[in-house]
Amino acid sequence: MPKCSNCGFIFRYDKCPRCGTPADVKNAPPAAPPPVQKIEENKSALSEFFEIACSITTTSDVDSVLKKVGAAAEKLTLTMASSIMLLDDDKKNLYFKVASGDKGTILTKLKVLVGEGIAGWVAANKQPLIIQDVSVDPRFTGKIDSESGFRTKSILCVPLLVNDELVGVAEVLNKIDGSPFTEKDKTILTSLSNFAAVAIVNARNISDQQNFFANVFEILTVAFEANDQRFSGHCFKVAQISTAIARELNITGNQYKDIYYAAVLHDVGFIAEPDYSILEHNSNRIHPIKGYEMIKNINLLKSAAGLIKYHHLMYDGSGFPADGLKKEAIPLGSRIISLVEAVEDMRFSVYPEEKIRQTVESQKGIKFDPVIADIYLKIIE
Ligand SMILES: [Fe+2]
Ligand SMILES: [Fe+2]
Repeated sequence: MPKCSNCGFIFRYDKCPRCGTPADVKNAPPAAPPPVQKIEENKSALSEFFEIACSITTTSDVDSVLKKVGAAAEKLTLTMASSIMLLDDDKKNLYFKVASGDKGTILTKLKVLVGEGIAGWVAANKQPLIIQDVSVDPRFTGKIDSESGFRTKSILCVPLLVNDELVGVAEVLNKIDGSPFTEKDKTILTSLSNFAAVAIVNARNISDQQNFFANVFEILTVAFEANDQRFSGHCFKVAQISTAIARELNITGNQYKDIYYAAVLHDVGFIAEPDYSILEHNSNRIHPIKGYEMIKNINLLKSAAGLIKYHHLMYDGSGFPADGLKKEAIPLGSRIISLVEAVEDMRFSVYPEEKIRQTVESQKGIKFDPVIADIYLKIIE
């Protein structure tokens, strides 16, 4: 605390209360260190922020990042509930992406019009808003409370902005100790919202990229199928049946995508065969390796390339390439595609459906993975 340069009185204000001399700020002793509790609070905030920053850079799963943001917001602002809403493609509605509490799942089915209620006001004005008592604020509609059963008393809501463009809003509700929201709470929620906005934009970029690649692959497939009219639609058919089997096996996420990409591109190696006839699937032993070589260096397709390599390898190790792999040592995606490829080969040879079915049945555990064969037989019933 400064000491009056005129009368020596020690005081804590901007001028001496005894003689009125202004405080000598320059020569004032250093401020007292913050109390231990404050240091602990700041450390806790920093560690939450650090963990979220790490998860943004290490995962493309936007839902898990947003859940962490919501949980951290509640913890650091000492509030009872939180939610994150995103702006719909039509830019007219907000929908709940993450909502804490027992009724969170109910909320994820609700939409809020931009301009309606507190969240709608924040979205429309792109400004943070603190309301210490919602019962006296005409913008509060109570619509969400009546759906969720939660009773909102106070609310802090901030916009999620990327380059000044609105992507959603984040809010925390009711301080646990009933105290009013502070400017510090607003700063914390705004900072966390910046993380959420980055995660959302990252996820959208990845999804756009994947969508772009999926379209390129499909165009490529149509181009090489056009080499022989009889082959038209083969790759999509293989992809369709393979992914149906994958769904029955509860395969999701990246493993599912790898199977889709591998199935669409399974015969891409024929492009590298100048005089190919795709209908000669089983005699052209090099196309799986060629296909693998062609795409193995594309990051997005690295895992799919491995599945393409073995799409003519049978469960018992027969077929090609003969790398000594058999049964469960063959990648699951390859076992799925090789069954579908073999079935489609029989169709090219105009086998009656009943004969195809009998062949799959009789080769269960020999040429075909028995579990996959059973699923295939169930799907075509
Ligand atoms: Fe094929
Ligand atoms: Fe093939």
